[in-house]
Amino acid sequence: MSEQNGLPRHIAIIMDGNGRWARKRGLTRIRGHIEGVKSVREITEECAKRHIGQITLYAFSSENWSRPRLEIELLMRLLKRYLIRERKTIMDNNIRFTVIGRIEALPRDVQEEIAEEIEMSKNNTGMILCLALNYGGRAEIVDAAIKLARKVKEGKILPEDINEETLRENMYTAGMSDPDLLIRTGGDMRVSNFLLWEISYTELWVTPVYWPDFHKENLEEALRDYAFRERRYGGLVQ
Ligand code: IPE
Ligand code: IPE
Ligand code: MG
Repeated sequence: MSEQNGLPRHIAIIMDGNGRWARKRGLTRIRGHIEGVKSVREITEECAKRHIGQITLYAFSSENWSRPRLEIELLMRLLKRYLIRERKTIMDNNIRFTVIGRIEALPRDVQEEIAEEIEMSKNNTGMILCLALNYGGRAEIVDAAIKLARKVKEGKILPEDINEETLRENMYTAGMSDPDLLIRTGGDMRVSNFLLWEISYTELWVTPVYWPDFHKENLEEALRDYAFRERRYGGLVQ
């Protein structure tokens, strides 16, 4: 088989397996999350160096609120620390930072750091780094439906104006390209409510490697695999 694709323009990653990584070593789950942040840094820098257009990282799902309160608290603290400490990586690599999800439900201090990160990096012209925070794929579709319903109510659009394009324009991901490649670490063969609308024709790649053990060599493997995928979009290959 020949190489069909170049690099993916947009890579989405379900960063899973932090807890299992820690348990295997007799450590607390939060140690797994701390170690996972190092992989975030390494993979972000590697993707920026390779001139990937965008990476979208699933950092906290809307369902993750069902975890023990202490784990959630520590995750939020870690997220805040990450946002502060990563500023240099983001600026040094000309990265534009953004987020998707119901950000308004996150702790206020985390929201402030997010706003600062977005503002600071808004004129950067390199890779887009998008963090999915308090993100749920179904919630995203519901929120788009609410926005469209309001526009109909206000007489700005007619119900029959609603199509795939208008829905797309009302998603959190409006203006972004759909992911070409979705990577999931930790071995589970599911999408866990991530980017349901956007991954219709995304190539999936699952590795048993836990997120804290995921390094640039593993990314390289995923990219190599992607390069040989035949993307048909329901059509036929000549
Ligand atoms: C992924 O690791 C990180 C978050 C969901 C925040 P997990 O915490 O889900 O780790 P496992 O799946 O229990 O190993
Ligand atoms: C998906 O991992 C969410 C994130 C990586 C943030 P989960 O660990 O929450 O997913 P499930 O529970 O295994 O489906
Ligand atoms: Mg998990």
